[in-house]
Amino acid sequence: MTARIFLKVIAVIVCLAGVALVAADLLASGVAERFLVAHLTSSLQDKGRVLIRSQASGTLDQARIRILAEATEARLTVVAADGRVLADSEAAPASMENHLNRPEFQDALQGKVGSVTRSSRTIGIDFLYVAVPMEPGPNPRYALRLAMPLKAVNEDIRAIRARILQSVALAFLPAVLIAGIIARSMAGRLSSVIAYAGELANGNFQARLPSSTKGELGLLSQKLNETGAKLERTVQQLQTEHAELDRLERVRRDFVINVSHELRTPLASIQGYAETLIDGALHDEKNNLRFLNIIRHNAERLTGLTADLLTLSRLELRTKEFRFAAFRTGELLGGVIDTIQPIAARKNISIEQEDGPADSEVFCDSEAFYQVVSNLLDNAVKYTPQNGTITTGFHHIARPDGSAWIEFYVRDTGMGIPVDDQSRLFERFYRVDKARSRELGGTGLGLSIVKHLVRAHGGDVRVESEIGAGATFFFTLPVDDSGIPEHVAASAAIA
Ligand SMILES: Nc1ncnc2c1ncn2[C@@H]1O[C@H](COP(=O)(O)OP(=O)(O)O)[C@@H](O)[C@H]1O
Ligand SMILES: [Mg+2]
Repeated sequence: MTARIFLKVIAVIVCLAGVALVAADLLASGVAERFLVAHLTSSLQDKGRVLIRSQASGTLDQARIRILAEATEARLTVVAADGRVLADSEAAPASMENHLNRPEFQDALQGKVGSVTRSSRTIGIDFLYVAVPMEPGPNPRYALRLAMPLKAVNEDIRAIRARILQSVALAFLPAVLIAGIIARSMAGRLSSVIAYAGELANGNFQARLPSSTKGELGLLSQKLNETGAKLERTVQQLQTEHAELDRLERVRRDFVINVSHELRTPLASIQGYAETLIDGALHDEKNNLRFLNIIRHNAERLTGLTADLLTLSRLELRTKEFRFAAFRTGELLGGVIDTIQPIAARKNISIEQEDGPADSEVFCDSEAFYQVVSNLLDNAVKYTPQNGTITTGFHHIARPDGSAWIEFYVRDTGMGIPVDDQSRLFERFYRVDKARSRELGGTGLGLSIVKHLVRAHGGDVRVESEIGAGATFFFTLPVDDSGIPEHVAASAAIA
């Protein structure tokens, strides 16, 4: 590639040099010819004048003119006013035609100096003819013509041309050399740009051109580098988006699998026991009530599961409508505890409420608050053995941005949660012990619902736990409407 560009540039330069040589030659040879002919013309004219002055016109006969021609190294011809040739140094006058119509004689016979170059009719080579009047005044009776072949002039011109061509060629040599060096470096740079464009075309967007070069090629490199960087960014962005789409698709698929699985177990149980009853167990008085209870229990599970799924999908699709208002914090919390107390009492678990700041107010949706706290209390009761204790309470905290929040806590004396599971606890269907959760009537959706409800208030949830040492769940809610996220507040009723 480099070689091709280099050769092209060199070829162009050589052509240019050739054109320049031809132009110089034409110009120089034209000038030299004009100069040499003019010089020869004036020298012949001078010789003619000297000859005429030294001779009486009548004495220029054939013999004399031959001698003079030898001395002047020119052919001499004398012509009368009527064009007749009176004497000639090289031919017999009688054999020569009338010369009246020769332009040089026409000038000379009018008293001027006539000069002309033309090919001789007798010999066929180029001659310079200069004719001078042999008498003063406008109407001389005789004119003398001096003729000289232009051979010498032409040889001089050839020598001058050769010299000029030599010097022009010499002058061009360094120019071609320098141009060659420049062409080589340009071709090198150009081919690296071309190679880089090829890299881009092949999808290698990390490559970059060295940006040290200046001029148009430097600008082109810079633009290509910018294009490469832009493409690299776009590809990265697309890859990230693609990965995120992949992740979402996996989440969706897992969710569908989980839901079907969760539905299948109670449905299969209902179907099985219903068939058993139909097949005759209906009349088995020992078992029929037990089977019906199992059916009812599974139906309840299905109801709970579908209710949880509905709540979750409303929260995720942001179609759940909230009714926010300010409540006395201690009273709101106490109300929920009261409803769970009977369930806890069955396991002889006590739920205690620690005193929070008096006159504290929380800004929330009371139904959502009920769902959050009852879910946490329900878990605490489920995962705490008999005779345990659950402690609840709240305190005011300030976020780094200065806003005021209330942090609630639900602490139990139960089995605790392994650290590895803590970060995933709030995911849909995530359970530390699936079988145990199911046995206890759990769906694995409770904490996910808690997280979404709290987030809709602008708050957050977290857990602190050690295995065997119980677990404490924390969540925050705002003290006034300034904490509610805009997208929630937009569609909510605020009292
Ligand atoms: N207080 C707790 N103590 C120990 N483990 C808990 C507690 N609360 C929740 N978990 C664990 O978190 C899981 C998810 O809880 P949750 O979403 O409420 O589902 P579910 O209660 O239906 O199993 C539970 O299955 C359990 O493993
Ligand atoms: Mg639960």
